[in-house]
Amino acid sequence: MHSRQLTPLDRLLTSVNNALRTVAAPAGRPARPSPAADLEDAPLDEREKAHAAGLMRVNHAGEVCAQALYQGHAAVARDPEIEEQMQKAAEEEFDHLAWCEQRLEELGESPSKLSPFWYAGAFAIGAASGILGDKWSLGFIAETEDQVCAHLDSHLEKLPHSDKRSRTIVAQMRDEEAEHGENAIDAGAAELPQPVKRLMRLTARIMTSTAYRI
Ligand SMILES: [Fe+2]
Ligand SMILES: [Fe+2]
Repeated sequence: MHSRQLTPLDRLLTSVNNALRTVAAPAGRPARPSPAADLEDAPLDEREKAHAAGLMRVNHAGEVCAQALYQGHAAVARDPEIEEQMQKAAEEEFDHLAWCEQRLEELGESPSKLSPFWYAGAFAIGAASGILGDKWSLGFIAETEDQVCAHLDSHLEKLPHSDKRSRTIVAQMRDEEAEHGENAIDAGAAELPQPVKRLMRLTARIMTSTAYRI
């Protein structure tokens, strides 16, 4: 069963509401508690703490982009079932966003100051690929999630070993991103051309290296 298709005004209001709740800190309560909620906080030295915070700020910025991408796709999706699938993924991404924000706060740091910029850029990219049609929009999601999984795998190697709380959050996110990618493929994602994939990787690299610091 799926909900009625939204009117353009509904979609606009949903997008504005989502943009505000995504870039506002605190982001609000996640629908599911953080997977790290019951874990003992490990003692980290100052260097480890700063590094873990930098990485978690990158992951938080990634989740800001995920929100914007899914909302951008949903805003122009043609098939109501695909629109609903994107809204559902955006809800899970919102949990990721809130978990990363909680962890950043525990590490004594805050999200990227450029969050509104990340959101606006990713929303525009999401909507632009959605305008090309649902199969390209889904293709874009499948490729994004694939690149995000590789990125999160690299963070599982880079995070301090004793930082179980950050690692557990990242591992859970990684599993769910893989599922989002599989769902997009099952729903009819087209394979993106190689130059587009390369451009996506380059854009992600700019975002991740900036968000680590700012
Ligand atoms: Fe996510
Ligand atoms: Fe995802």
